[in-house]
Amino acid sequence: MHFNILIAIAAMRALGAVNAQEVSNCERSCGNVNITYPFGSGVGCYYSSDFLVTCNRSSGTPIPFFGNSSSNIVISNMSTSKSELEIMMFVARDCYNSSGPAGWSRPSLWLKSMRISTKNKFVAIGCDTYAFFRARRGSAYDGTGCISRCGSNSSITDGSCSGVGCCEVAVPEGMSAINITLSSYDNHTDMIDFNPCSYAFFVEEGKFNFFSNNLRDFRSTEKMPMLLDWAIGNSTCDIASKEVDNFLCKAERNSRCDENYRGRGYRCRCHEGYEGNPYVGCNSKCYSLVTWFLYFIFQSLLHQSLPPNEILDHLYSADIDECKNGNHDCVHISDCKDNPGNYTCECREGYSGDGRNDGTGCIADQYQDQDQSMVVKIAVGK
Ligand SMILES: *[C@@H]1O[C@H](CO)[C@@H](O)[C@H](O)[C@H]1NC(C)=O
Ligand SMILES: *[C@@H]1O[C@H](CO)[C@@H](O)[C@H](O)[C@H]1NC(C)=O
Ligand SMILES: *[C@@H]1O[C@H](CO)[C@@H](O)[C@H](O)[C@H]1NC(C)=O
Ligand SMILES: *[C@@H]1O[C@H](CO)[C@@H](O)[C@H](O)[C@H]1NC(C)=O
Ligand SMILES: *[C@@H]1O[C@H](CO)[C@@H](O)[C@H](O)[C@H]1NC(C)=O
Ligand SMILES: *[C@@H]1O[C@H](CO)[C@@H](O)[C@H](O)[C@H]1NC(C)=O
Ligand SMILES: *[C@@H]1O[C@H](CO)[C@@H](O)[C@H](O)[C@H]1NC(C)=O
Ligand SMILES: *[C@@H]1O[C@H](CO)[C@@H](O)[C@H](O)[C@H]1NC(C)=O
Ligand SMILES: *[C@@H]1O[C@H](CO)[C@@H](O)[C@H](O)[C@H]1NC(C)=O
Ligand SMILES: *[C@@H]1O[C@H](CO)[C@@H](O)[C@H](O)[C@H]1NC(C)=O
Repeated sequence: MHFNILIAIAAMRALGAVNAQEVSNCERSCGNVNITYPFGSGVGCYYSSDFLVTCNRSSGTPIPFFGNSSSNIVISNMSTSKSELEIMMFVARDCYNSSGPAGWSRPSLWLKSMRISTKNKFVAIGCDTYAFFRARRGSAYDGTGCISRCGSNSSITDGSCSGVGCCEVAVPEGMSAINITLSSYDNHTDMIDFNPCSYAFFVEEGKFNFFSNNLRDFRSTEKMPMLLDWAIGNSTCDIASKEVDNFLCKAERNSRCDENYRGRGYRCRCHEGYEGNPYVGCNSKCYSLVTWFLYFIFQSLLHQSLPPNEILDHLYSADIDECKNGNHDCVHISDCKDNPGNYTCECREGYSGDGRNDGTGCIADQYQDQDQSMVVKIAVGK
């Protein structure tokens, strides 16, 4: 009896977090991609036209496109907890044969409201290759790139992208448009047999590993996964929260506005210890039901009885190990330590800071000591 009532209450609590976007007639997936609010396909399913997804089924396999039917940007994944969108971005190429240039492509990307994530790298492949990109950041145009040269294929080390056969650079933050330029110094002369083309692309860190075979056979790779960052609207948490009807981070759905986010717009985060889609509602779902059963059994064994609400409060504050499930914000040179309800990032020896991507990160102590007075000396000869 007691048991049944508790299950009913638990079920009601779990359902309480589901809102209109989840239960209405919106497409929830397209191909391998789950479409999660604020993204949506069809009228009333997305937050604003910036989050429109169009599912094209004309080729048999459904393909999710970013934007309306005139878009050619394919979505390969999305995350609401990290505010990221993964798209398939075209690879730039510049090819040669024994009689000279034999075809090239130079992709560009222009984003209305999203930004290119700094979790990407700009990579170029080739033995006679220089590659760079020009980017719009706010109202300015900036850019960078890299050079890769090699004489023969024997000098190439698999897995190493450090300038021989492959080079890479980090990307600056805040880029909203890019053009890739790719060229050669000597038309790949004397290397057509093992490296006829140069390639350049943006790719999510960890999703590309260079192999010497790429010099010959990368031609069949048309696109690489690239991460974009997004936020809602134009205004900060303070201003956006005043428009209660449109504001998506709702306290009653265990969601809060991310005060640490300093880009354009605002982002929602689940409260510590909760998970789910912070733009719709966070809860601890199946995890808490399992814990709940264990807790209940534990309670009966001890012949104690707590009021149902108190038991539920224990369950809903069930700890999630953010460190283990990878859902943490620690920079790579810090160690994630789980605490009840939250976690800390401890910088490794020789570094200090809060260890968080959104915070101070980990700063090498020697640089901190030197204050702002770092000096670079350059020798110049005649
Ligand atoms: C999409 O959602 C389904 C059901 O919730 C889940 O089983 C699947 O793993 C999800 N796929 C991705 C790519 O997140
Ligand atoms: C698709 O979006 C673009 C840019 O947002 C717009 O110019 C175009 O008119 C739209 N096309 C359709 C069919 O809605
Ligand atoms: C779907 O994609 C095909 C090409 O693959 C294109 O011809 C067609 O116009 C697209 N349909 C819509 C509704 O976007
Ligand atoms: C999709 O994104 C989620 C959340 O960031 C991540 O856990 C998952 O591994 C991604 N899936 C793929 C295939 O990259
Ligand atoms: C080289 O490529 C060009 C352009 O694609 C082509 O016209 C030419 O026939 C090719 N030459 C050789 C030797 O393959
Ligand atoms: C990319 O090239 C196009 C066409 O030349 C130009 O209109 C655009 O401003 C360029 N974008 C960037 C970021 O340089
Ligand atoms: C590369 O090819 C172009 C076009 O055929 C030619 O103008 C240029 O001189 C060539 N450069 C070298 C270094 O061979
Ligand atoms: C590199 O050279 C080795 C030995 O000559 C050969 O087996 C291999 O296929 C070459 N790799 C490429 C990418 O040309
Ligand atoms: C951002 O603000 C500009 C003007 O300040 C407005 O035109 C634009 O529609 C806003 N964009 C969004 C997504 O609210
Ligand atoms: C984590 O919890 C501890 C103790 O409850 C608190 O002192 C600390 O400020 C919290 N840290 C964060 C980042 O919320």
